[in-house]
Amino acid sequence: MQITEISFKSADGSFAKEGVDVDLRSLSDEEFNRIENEFNETGVLVFRSQSLTPQNLIELSKRFGEVEKHLRQEFSLEGFNEIHVLSNIKQGERTIGSAYAGDAWHADLCFKKAPSRMSILYSLEIPHDEIGKPLGDTLFASAADAYDRLSDSQKNRIADLRGIMQYNRRQEIKRQERAKDHPRPPLTEEQKAKTPDITQPVVRLHPLSKRKCIYVNETYTFGIEGMPEEDAKTLLDELQNEVIVPDRIYRHKWKVGDVIMWDNCLTQHKAIGDYKLPQRRKLLRTSISGTPVE
Ligand SMILES: [Fe+2]
Repeated sequence: MQITEISFKSADGSFAKEGVDVDLRSLSDEEFNRIENEFNETGVLVFRSQSLTPQNLIELSKRFGEVEKHLRQEFSLEGFNEIHVLSNIKQGERTIGSAYAGDAWHADLCFKKAPSRMSILYSLEIPHDEIGKPLGDTLFASAADAYDRLSDSQKNRIADLRGIMQYNRRQEIKRQERAKDHPRPPLTEEQKAKTPDITQPVVRLHPLSKRKCIYVNETYTFGIEGMPEEDAKTLLDELQNEVIVPDRIYRHKWKVGDVIMWDNCLTQHKAIGDYKLPQRRKLLRTSISGTPVE
């Protein structure tokens, strides 16, 4: 058997892993399999110093599965409706991407019956402070490790509960918060109809590894089915705090050319919005389809 040269090291001493000397444009099948296996175990992989065209990013993404088109097509990269732009950059009055997206803990597309398997993010412009320190870090936490750390009584309590996921409600809250600096239109009735409120299990089985993961988050989960609102809020806060234990978080300090891929069941993430124009940020994101939640 041929020995693959791709290796990984812990990213900053955390659960996340960083690929060493990998060029994501030219992976053999064997190298890709090595990466995918590591990804399915770890949930967050980092690759530095990449040089991808939009087409390269799509081709890489397609090796993991079907690439989804984002609900908000107004933030697609021109000519590439599978690529979602995250940016605070303005062209005239228009912001070219989704600005300050994901600034609270969440898993991407958890409000869909078949949430995305994973997301891939590639950085083109990263803001810095006056002494050159990068801004706009992204934080990652393992929702699988968090479940494992729960006590037996906590596990029993949440075993059969379902969280209420409300994308449209969160979008309207964000729209009002950002109306002054980055105005955006409300979701249309047609857009809203694509993302009705749904429930998801509080404890989700990872579709491949079958690991149990905490699958509620402070962004999209507004309640627990059948539970009084105040009790649900207390429980949701408790579970969120189990996920985001500070010394277990991976904090990614971005450089131009970084690629991060993350599993949306095994992990949660959050973007830090500690920059503003003229500090510019621009990243490209793809989402890969997943299977319906079991
Ligand atoms: Fe996100």
